[in-house]
Amino acid sequence: MSDPGGPAEGLADPPDLVDGATRLRGVRPGDAEALFPFVHRAPEITRWLCWDGPADLEELERRYASWRRGEPGEPVLVLAIEEVPGGAVLGELTLRFDGHPGVGDLGYWLGAEHHGKGHGGRAIGLALRLAFESCAARSVTASVKEGNDASLAVLERAGFVRDRAPGAVSIVDGDGPDGVAVHEGAGPPIAWIASLTRRSWTRAQHGEASAP
Ligand SMILES: CC(C)(COP(=O)(O)OP(=O)(O)OC[C@H]1O[C@@H](n2cnc3c(N)ncnc32)[C@H](O)[C@@H]1OP(=O)(O)O)[C@@H](O)C(=O)NCCC(=O)NCCS
Repeated sequence: MSDPGGPAEGLADPPDLVDGATRLRGVRPGDAEALFPFVHRAPEITRWLCWDGPADLEELERRYASWRRGEPGEPVLVLAIEEVPGGAVLGELTLRFDGHPGVGDLGYWLGAEHHGKGHGGRAIGLALRLAFESCAARSVTASVKEGNDASLAVLERAGFVRDRAPGAVSIVDGDGPDGVAVHEGAGPPIAWIASLTRRSWTRAQHGEASAP
């Protein structure tokens, strides 16, 4: 395991992690075709994101052309959530350290037809392994919009603790021309910042009670 704040030593290759029926792997441009219908003009998904979804397929292909960007120690991971077995691509997860090394910012979505089957919870669990074991994260955070109870449920089951967001908050889940857009998107405002420390995650891995 890397020291907190050290380089992201384990990321020489795109990640490929599996938990039961869910795989988390580096996204590929070809994934855009499968994922585009889930997130194009899909307000039931994008209202919860800080991104309005892609205007066209090419925009999504460009987003997926690079799975990793950012300065050393500040990786930007764009990952596909895949079904096991079969390999169907179900959704996307981002884990970003750009501008905040050591603090991973998590974003995720699944196509509506794939909700409620445990993929979200398992994908977040795998992302936490990636963050704490390979990206030297000290903590991982997620910004959650008002009323997004499903997202709060999966985060809290993973051990996250929520706090009221301090006023208007912007997070990095969108993708502008330089790949680092900051955009709140449509839908409700961000109401919660959920966070999980390395210490709490490590304790939970060992079956210990979470830190006070
Ligand atoms: C959030 C999201 C990724 C969850 O993925 P998922 O695969 O459906 O989640 P899971 O099946 O692992 O778990 C769903 C949990 O939410 C709970 N849940 C679902 N809908 C809920 C609701 N309306 N209110 C409260 N809890 C709800 C389920 O009971 C379950 O919790 P449990 O396992 O403790 O019973 C998915 O709903 C999604 O893509 N939403 C749209 C985009 C989004 O909100 N992204 C997150 C932005 S912060």
